[in-house]
Amino acid sequence: MTKLIIFTDLHMVPEGTTIIGLDPYQRLAAGIAHVNAYHADADHVIFTGDLTHRADRLSYERLKGLLDTLAPPKAITIGNHDRRDVFLDVFSDCPTDENGFVQQAIDLPDCRLLLLDTLFAPPYDYPNSHAGLLCAARMDWLDRQLASAGDRPVMLFMHHPPHATGFTGMDMIRLVNEVEFYDLVKRHGNVLHIFAGHVHRTISGSSRGIPFSVFKSPVHQQPMPFDAPDASLSIDEPAAYGIAVMTDTGVLVHTEDYEIAVREAEVA
Ligand SMILES: [Fe+2]
Repeated sequence: MTKLIIFTDLHMVPEGTTIIGLDPYQRLAAGIAHVNAYHADADHVIFTGDLTHRADRLSYERLKGLLDTLAPPKAITIGNHDRRDVFLDVFSDCPTDENGFVQQAIDLPDCRLLLLDTLFAPPYDYPNSHAGLLCAARMDWLDRQLASAGDRPVMLFMHHPPHATGFTGMDMIRLVNEVEFYDLVKRHGNVLHIFAGHVHRTISGSSRGIPFSVFKSPVHQQPMPFDAPDASLSIDEPAAYGIAVMTDTGVLVHTEDYEIAVREAEVA
């Protein structure tokens, strides 16, 4: 029974820097301590991108030091706030596909995990490159990994949701080749669940019949009004990570607001 922990949108910054007054380092450190205390038995901890806020080397080095304290093994991909070259320079042992994209397949007894690199850039012409893309080379890699999964159901992990989530500003910077992506996934018919980040909000549902989960960040979150046209609005809500557990009949998905979680329950 595979158990996975999912973190997304860490937005690490250099020391002394905050985001809307929140300290990404402190927020993630608390999350890692929480995982080490309660989920040290997890098969993997998956990080679905926006590892840093401004893709600077100092932030990646700071992040690497923190992730080295994680008890379970980690698996990482990148998002629109990352730079592929700077990330790989610091995380030089992170697996990539044959073209250098931060994609990997992990086979476990009851499932195949595929981490997808949806970073549109280069060129890194922010904010234009904040949308997501799976180019022809990455789609071809995905095609081959889905084809060779055998009897294992597949779980996809990607920064950009491949579908709209109802937030006007964020939907404008979602995966741009959504139709092509779903055509491929539906053709293989073996994707059990899609996990994503990018939106900084807990969201679940289905698209084209395939269930998905999107998780909150450990740091700043997306405010609720659906129709805000601005993708950069942020609020201070509790930090969270996701938990996915394979079962005999499918997959369970939980979220843990680890900053406010209380373990000692009282009898009502
Ligand atoms: Fe983000």
